[in-house]
Amino acid sequence: AAESRLIVVSNRIPTDAQPSGGLVVALHDALKARGGVWIGSSGETSDSPGPLHEIEGVPEYRKLAYDLTEDEHRGFYLGHANSVIWPLFHHRADLIDVDEENRRQYMAVNARVAEMIAKVVEPGDILWVHDYHFLPLGHELRKLGVQNRIGFFLHIPFPNPGDIAALPDQKQLGPWVSSFDLFGLQTQRDVSACLEWLRTATEAEFTLRGRMKLADRFFEVRSFPIGIDVDSFQEAADAADITITDLPVEQKLVLGVDRLDYSKGLPNRFEAFGKYLGLRASDGPRATMLQIAPPSREDVEAYREIRAELESMAGSVNGEHAELDWTPIRYIRRPLPREIVAGLYRRADVMLVTPLADGMNLVAKEFVAAQDGADPGVLILSHFAGAAEQLDGALMVNPYDTSGMARAIDQALAMSLHERHARWLSMMQVIRDTDIEWWTESYLRALRSQPQVQVA
Ligand code: G6P
Repeated sequence: AAESRLIVVSNRIPTDAQPSGGLVVALHDALKARGGVWIGSSGETSDSPGPLHEIEGVPEYRKLAYDLTEDEHRGFYLGHANSVIWPLFHHRADLIDVDEENRRQYMAVNARVAEMIAKVVEPGDILWVHDYHFLPLGHELRKLGVQNRIGFFLHIPFPNPGDIAALPDQKQLGPWVSSFDLFGLQTQRDVSACLEWLRTATEAEFTLRGRMKLADRFFEVRSFPIGIDVDSFQEAADAADITITDLPVEQKLVLGVDRLDYSKGLPNRFEAFGKYLGLRASDGPRATMLQIAPPSREDVEAYREIRAELESMAGSVNGEHAELDWTPIRYIRRPLPREIVAGLYRRADVMLVTPLADGMNLVAKEFVAAQDGADPGVLILSHFAGAAEQLDGALMVNPYDTSGMARAIDQALAMSLHERHARWLSMMQVIRDTDIEWWTESYLRALRSQPQVQVA
């Protein structure tokens, strides 16, 4: 049978100018290999709600974008999505800012996007909706009579079931989830949390064959850990110039690459590095920590606070440990191009991926892919990154235990080539087995295998 057309929906269609999270890179790679249509906001705001329009892109797939209004941007994106759902799903109910007008905008944008999609969808198309901006989208599409298969993938953690009570939409979440045919999550841990919530807080029933039923809808909840294009990253690292920093070759490099976000555990990481510097013998080799952290969502208060906190911490660690010819923590806020980042991964001796909560964290996988197998660096990974379920070759740490992290940095810098190599090989195997192509194909295969006709 001819392959059905794939329609991907995500909050924002990438342009080269924007810093991108893992989602954007992964979807670009997936669509490039498979073709299809990508629908999302243009990143521009306009005075009145903008219609879908085609934008220039790559030849392999089409991009259809719409502009948000200022009010929609504020209420839907900054407000409900990033000031309620994001913190709650990252286990930070203390940071949520519930606002009725923002919630209304979130629903209104979902309804408007559903209407635009309903106009372009054809029978046989498969729809794949991404992330927390669009939890109600399947439900909105069903209301408009769209009967196509609709899948959803949540790139961020599923919340603690008990926290869902803090969500103003908590009663709607069941019908939203069950409107999709397949509700995809990153990890087993997320699936357990989701099933626990369905069992305790909704009327959902478990059917034979492992599917769920809620009201008259059948759906499936499964994990599909997202991956990367391993070869392309490896090639980028092979081609990269690893002498781009001014660090002397004998100087150890400890690297962090994150979107500036309170979920990434950056203050704990800076504190841990400060403690490591305290442990270090004064005549021992110097290690410099380079943290790349481009900001996003800067109109949200919590993001401004994390930025200020980090800058002051870097200043105080440096104040204590810097010498005339050595700045221990370097902090770059500008987003760097992928080729440069690939070179930094290759140059790094130790990579710190230490979030307090993270859906998967593709930086961890990119770092592994970028290593030279003859002399690989060490990945230090938080238990709370989704990647921890897969990458057991990493040095695992608890990001709340900064002394433990300091010892892990010390251990990583002293690790023998033999051990570094064995750990790297086992991680390479996993990221190859579950690369971006595997993720796309296994998700879409599972979505296609959902019976299209729903039985009441
Ligand atoms: C995370 C989210 C994505 C989002 C990305 C960038 O990875 O899961 O949905 O695209 O961050 O966030 P931003 O708000 O800057 O678009």
